Amino acid sequence: MDHWREQQRRHAEKHGIFLIAEDFVPGVGACPVGWAFAHDETAELFVIEAERHHGTLAELYVVPSARGKGLGRALIEGCEAWARGRGHKLLTVGVLAKNPSAIRAYEGAGYAPYWVTLRRYL
Ligand SMILES: CC(C)(COP(=O)(O)OP(=O)(O)OC[C@H]1O[C@@H](n2cnc3c(N)ncnc32)[C@H](O)[C@@H]1OP(=O)(O)O)[C@@H](O)C(=O)NCCC(=O)NCCS
Repeated sequence: MDHWREQQRRHAEKHGIFLIAEDFVPGVGACPVGWAFAHDETAELFVIEAERHHGTLAELYVVPSARGKGLGRALIEGCEAWARGRGHKLLTVGVLAKNPSAIRAYEGAGYAPYWVTLRRYL
């Protein structure tokens, strides 16, 4: 619960949105099976000044049993609709390099790498 309260507080401060995806479960009805958070972000690393203030997709999750049905894509599109409504021209998302299913979902939706963080343990 603390996680959700903290997320709601942080996202409200940044004019964010919290989306829930539902799936139909026979005998039960519509059940929540995924979510996405997006909020305003300001990042100096963008060369074009107008892009420094943009939307960012902070969390995306679909429960394993509901994956591969287009819900991840629908949540991404919901966040894009929110970002357009906020007047943003850009929506960004950070993803772990070793998360191929998430990278495929984002690339399939038209996202491309802009900034890459490299690391080496010393
Ligand atoms: C990433 C995630 C949200 C995708 O959700 P999903 O509901 O399965 O996604 P969709 O069904 O909408 O699929 C979106 C696209 O990604 C592709 N894709 C998703 N998972 C894939 C996998 N494991 N292997 C191959 N392709 C995959 C789909 O084929 C689809 O491509 P298409 O639109 O060209 O057909 C889900 O796998 C997840 O919750 N993962 C764990 C949490 C996570 O990694 N979140 C992202 C953190 S940045």
